[in-house]
Amino acid sequence: MTAKNNRANFGSKLGVILASAGSAVGLGNIWRFPYETGEHGGAAFILIYIACVLFFGIPIMVAEFSIGRRSRSNTARAYQILAPGTPWKWVGRMGVLAGFLILGYYSVVAGWTLDYIVQAATNSFAGQSADGFIHAFNGFVQHPWLPAFWMLVFMLMTHFIVVKGVEKGIERSSKIMMPMLFIILLVLAGCAISLPGSGSGLKFLLMPDFSKLNADALLSAMGQTFFSLSVGMGCLCTYASYFRKDVNLPKTALNVGLIDTSVAVLSGLIIFPAAFAVGIQPDAGPSLLFITLPNVFQQAFGSLPWLAVLLSVMFYVLLALAALTSTISLHEVVTAYLHEEFNMTRRKAAILVTVGCSILGVLSSLSLGLGKELTIFGMTLFDFFDYLTAKIMLPLGGFFIAIFTGWFLDKRIVREEVSNNGSLKMWIYRSWLFLLKFVAPIGIAFIFINELGLLK
Ligand code: PFF
Repeated sequence: MTAKNNRANFGSKLGVILASAGSAVGLGNIWRFPYETGEHGGAAFILIYIACVLFFGIPIMVAEFSIGRRSRSNTARAYQILAPGTPWKWVGRMGVLAGFLILGYYSVVAGWTLDYIVQAATNSFAGQSADGFIHAFNGFVQHPWLPAFWMLVFMLMTHFIVVKGVEKGIERSSKIMMPMLFIILLVLAGCAISLPGSGSGLKFLLMPDFSKLNADALLSAMGQTFFSLSVGMGCLCTYASYFRKDVNLPKTALNVGLIDTSVAVLSGLIIFPAAFAVGIQPDAGPSLLFITLPNVFQQAFGSLPWLAVLLSVMFYVLLALAALTSTISLHEVVTAYLHEEFNMTRRKAAILVTVGCSILGVLSSLSLGLGKELTIFGMTLFDFFDYLTAKIMLPLGGFFIAIFTGWFLDKRIVREEVSNNGSLKMWIYRSWLFLLKFVAPIGIAFIFINELGLLK
């Protein structure tokens, strides 16, 4: 099939790492990680999170890379190529569906960042109190059309980059953005920590209180791991189908895991000291980032308004760009699937995805305001999509990817991919396989069963 033979490639190894890290680093790190940490008690949650990254996230990422590069196709077809005539293709299809659903609510939050760029640029944070910021945020997300409008703008930006194709669109934008994001996060962490009263925030972040850990916290830490690393739905599998043969898969996964976790922890180092300094509850939920950060700009640079404007605009622009490299990867999973499976042009496939996700986006955005009363299992549509994808579909996908690669896939293929034909040390390969065969599937199953309360 032509679509397969002239598949694009990422141009360089740095490009590979940056594009994968670009997918991983996003709202999941800067928006979602702090509020999940805040809702589940702080430092103890972070320790569990890091354990999940090491034992589930990175090993499964290597598995996804191997499946993708070996099959050189979208995530659903990948299983058909590696395991023809078996039901494994449903793991790929579930991934495509997860990507579609995530994009449907992720783009709403991504849209919020655009509105905050405008607010920052027009200096509207000046002179407001902490309560004022909370009020303004709630008013904004419940507005009947403004957040939906920004969501659509964001979706169109994603659309055009995806249509432009892999190398030009994805690789280039990641190269400049990632280092800049890191620097500005460091600056902001410094500012937040220097606010008076920030000490209790640091304590919350660094001193574990294990009494706060329960089944929910475990499930949330696991879900956050898969979400943040973009693992469990074939996203990195799709990206790996564009990798060249000489890319070192385990090393790439380790790098991505390291970058992703550093950005998450760094975001915590901004949000919690600032939240405690101005008296915002750490368990404020999805609003946490948006109600805490304006205080940092306002308080740390109150006497230098031009600096406050400059830094806040830069921050929200970089946040939007980080979200963009993630929405591109989500969009790409579904677009590549439609393009290759249903013989559509890339353009047509991309249009279908954009329209479908925009409809979901409008609905999830409305579910925070006008449609608040309409709930599913007691959750708004927005929360429901988040719960279903991050806490169920991605870990379930990760579970099956681990079983597939660890138990089912021909070990000759697995070794060839992971070790680039034998250049990698054996003990790393064996330890990785052990994690994949036993630790990850048993661990994930335990957390699911524990959450269902079946162990009591
Ligand atoms: N990892 C992204 C983030 O942390 O913002 C979100 C995401 C992207 C999840 C791609 C899943 C995915 F396949």
